[in-house]
Amino acid sequence: MQRKLFVTTALPYANGGFHIGHMMEYIQADIWVRFQRMQGHQVHFVCADDAHGAPIMLNAEKQGITPEALVAKVAAEHIAQWPQFHISFDFWHSTHSAENVELAQGIYKALKANKLIVSREIEQFFDPVKEMFLADRFIKGECPKCSAKDQYGDSCEVCGAVYSPAELKNPYSALTGATPVLKKSEHLFFKLSDKRCVNFLQKWVEETPLQPEVKNKLAEWLAVDPETGLRSLNDWDISRDAPYFGIEIPDAPGKFFYVWLDAPVGYLASLKAYFAAGGAKANGEPRDFDTFLADNNVEQYHFIGKDIVYFHTLFWPAMLHFAGRKEPNNVFVHGFLQVTGEKLSKSRGFGPTPSKYLDLKLNTEWLRYYIAAKLNDRVEDLDFNPEDFLARVNADLIGKYINIASRAAGFLHKKFVGRLLKVEAKHPVLAAITSSSAEIAALYDGREFGKAVRRIMELADLVNGFVDTEKPWELAKSDENNAVLHKACSIIINAFHLLTAYLAPILPKLATDAAAFLDIKGYDWSDTTRLLPAGHQINPYKHLMSRIDKKQIDALLEAPQEGDKDAPTAASKSSNKSAPAPANDEALVPAEFALQPVEAPKPIIIQPVAETISIDDFGRIDLRVAKILDAEYVAEADKLLRLTLDLGIEQRQVFAGIRSAYNPKELIGRLTVMVANLAPRKMRFGESQGMVLAAGDGTNIYLLAPDSGAVPGMRIK
Ligand code: 2FM
Ligand code: ZN
Repeated sequence: MQRKLFVTTALPYANGGFHIGHMMEYIQADIWVRFQRMQGHQVHFVCADDAHGAPIMLNAEKQGITPEALVAKVAAEHIAQWPQFHISFDFWHSTHSAENVELAQGIYKALKANKLIVSREIEQFFDPVKEMFLADRFIKGECPKCSAKDQYGDSCEVCGAVYSPAELKNPYSALTGATPVLKKSEHLFFKLSDKRCVNFLQKWVEETPLQPEVKNKLAEWLAVDPETGLRSLNDWDISRDAPYFGIEIPDAPGKFFYVWLDAPVGYLASLKAYFAAGGAKANGEPRDFDTFLADNNVEQYHFIGKDIVYFHTLFWPAMLHFAGRKEPNNVFVHGFLQVTGEKLSKSRGFGPTPSKYLDLKLNTEWLRYYIAAKLNDRVEDLDFNPEDFLARVNADLIGKYINIASRAAGFLHKKFVGRLLKVEAKHPVLAAITSSSAEIAALYDGREFGKAVRRIMELADLVNGFVDTEKPWELAKSDENNAVLHKACSIIINAFHLLTAYLAPILPKLATDAAAFLDIKGYDWSDTTRLLPAGHQINPYKHLMSRIDKKQIDALLEAPQEGDKDAPTAASKSSNKSAPAPANDEALVPAEFALQPVEAPKPIIIQPVAETISIDDFGRIDLRVAKILDAEYVAEADKLLRLTLDLGIEQRQVFAGIRSAYNPKELIGRLTVMVANLAPRKMRFGESQGMVLAAGDGTNIYLLAPDSGAVPGMRIK
């Protein structure tokens, strides 16, 4: 049955550029969405800018522009970037929009009619200079516990104490430095403490297949109070006083919705604007938003980070329910992306930013693949590890999958004008691939992308094993083998086609390019079990994806220089009294990632030929074929790899200066050439017992390899 899916990702604040953490979430959701579309389901995938709130208002003021102008500027930057990461949002909107005003005010009115809005006087810090109430983050002072200076109004970064701003010693406004005064004001609250709300949420949590970690958290929030024997929730303060950049509250002049009230409503506003724009037609007519959302068969899913679970699993379902709307079917929560353990949060951006990634012209599908390979269905943090990134892309994606096509396409064209033979569906390699379709589909559907990738790579290993056994390059040497060669190449190309179908949700651009090469229309899930027909003619092979160069990753992680657009600003570096911490501090790279500046690639220099030697001179050099049994990094040596070589008759340890060009993992199992009778050399890390040969000038390095058929120990003359 065709499912109807409404899918969103969290709305990023319109207060600065994307962070790599945003892109991780979009990639996760996009893979899931593309998979569902490949299954033939109806999917509407939308997002928007989260435009409101005090930080955006203050940031605009600092830049001397209106909040509207700031929001428009950031929106333009956002909209220019996500398509480059092949995120297939159907629509991108803004919470500062007519649709959102109408929907947020409508939901509020419905809650009020349901007697779930109450007004209460509260006392809050007020900046007498700026004439504005101060959110906790705009009040600083000395920690009431450890007396550390310049701590925020809610918690101490030095001792970890959590407190209320009123407890700070010598508080000051982070905006003006003025001493804040306590002032009373009427605020509006959403009565989450109402028994109806608590009972509803209890039931919603029970019935929704939330992740176990999320359920546990909710069980804590909704726990029975041992003293009263009741479940209780605090009411939620949903109003802010002017000056505020937001949506005005109907019948409460000068009061605005707190940004977190209108933000999730932005999901609906974006869908509404998308339908109104005619983006999704039903029977030739634009879809009707109200009919669609009221349809019980529509499934609504939100992808979010673990920091905003509270808003999405308590406030949001309750708001929707008591406004007479359908609640989300599920909320899919992911952890943070870290660079060697440092949290890449949205408010303290550092590390590999999407802007930098794009400026360096790195292939965005490398990142999609890497993130997919690391994702699972749990709320776990992911590690962005540069070496792992390089290895997974170069060794797995390129080495195992992409190369399959190039290993057969050339022969097919040279000898058989690119035409495929009929292949047996029950051929063991093809059958292994097609019979994994349901298993891999379940992994995609369950957001177990890492497991899906692993399974697909196992299948790629199987195909490569087949290529190694068939040896098309050997078969191609004599026309007598043409029939066998033709069959082998047809199987290999079919296998590549099936694997491409499996990878299409992760690598949409590559799948499109591969489809052009294979001369087919494109991919849907049925292609994971459908072979190319007999006589089908493929196009000549064009290079589908290049490898990552380590220098590219180094450049990506290089610390931003003063003056760069990613450079830390004075405000983000120090806790200057008058400098507020904006919601999106610009990139700060942790010290361990401030790698050495990278030089531009050097041109290849062809050196003059050396002095003539005699054949006897040459004969004294004992060159042998060697197999690389093991390869690893050498701590403290940034140029070397430690290789363990099999010489047929013995093993040798050699330190080779090839680290900049090779990932150790991808060398294991390869044959190369070594000087076997070079005098051993003692090094700091151990003895180097020979030398491997590589072409190049020290910057561009290419390890030599004998033609296939050579075995370890063979003498080279
Ligand atoms: O945490 C954030 O970045 C918020 N702007 C997310 C909002 S999600 C949704 F509710 F709009
Ligand atoms: Zn403290």
